Amino acid sequence: MIVVLLGPPGAGKGTQCKRIIEKYKLAHLSSGDILRAERTAGSDLGKEAQGYMDAGDLVPDELIIKMMVAAINKADGGCVLDGFPRTVVQGSELDKALTAEKKKIDAIVSLEIADEVIEKRLTGRRSCPVCGAVYHLQSLKPKVEGFCDKCPDQELVQRADDKPEVVKNRLETYHAQTAAVIGYYASTGHEIFTVSADAEINDITADILSQLDKVTA
Ligand code: AP5
Ligand code: MG
Repeated sequence: MIVVLLGPPGAGKGTQCKRIIEKYKLAHLSSGDILRAERTAGSDLGKEAQGYMDAGDLVPDELIIKMMVAAINKADGGCVLDGFPRTVVQGSELDKALTAEKKKIDAIVSLEIADEVIEKRLTGRRSCPVCGAVYHLQSLKPKVEGFCDKCPDQELVQRADDKPEVVKNRLETYHAQTAAVIGYYASTGHEIFTVSADAEINDITADILSQLDKVTA
């Protein structure tokens, strides 16, 4: 199964993907996480992406498409795409790449949430630099303040692009370039399942899984 999870920065894509992959045993392919791993590894791709990410701008389509198509082709057991596609060009190139491999998107879920809620979520987010677990200062606290539940003695960190001025640009970029992906899918006959992301984490998960269960039935 291939699932596309759409939504603005901070909508909870990463949080929900972790639960989806657990249930259906899929690979979690987050373009943002892959880019951050490339940066940590000091690769050419990571170095090229750095400036765009720190400013809250999109990394150029050609770099992202190549990176994500390679990851999708490796994920034989299916995957959830998190943060990709993020432009109409990425969406149409993804369709072409899947058709070439005789694959298709099985479900598209769109998380919807107001900008004001997102700002609070992102400034309170903390994550583990080792395992990638995501927490929140108010809504999803770790057992010991400031430390990862799964990695002993590992301090949580704040993402560099969660500073208020960068969050503002990420939201502007979303509205200017990414929101149109929903229209692209609607115009190409894909069904989109819309979920309110301004709710309890568990309720959103239940909503998404009930829809995906219908696809896998
Ligand atoms: P990326 O890493 O994809 O960031 P993003 O889309 O901005 O989304 P986030 O990861 O910030 O949020 P999320 O929706 O995953 O929310 P989360 O679950 O963490 O991309 C980063 C950068 O990489 C981009 O700016 C760009 O430069 C580049 N990039 C990536 N993909 C690209 C592409 N395809 N093309 C071009 N460039 C690309 O939740 C957020 C917080 O809220 C957490 O603290 C969580 O605990 C909390 N939370 C979650 N759900 C709830 C809830 N229901 N109630 C209360 N709190 C909640
Ligand atoms: Mg994320």
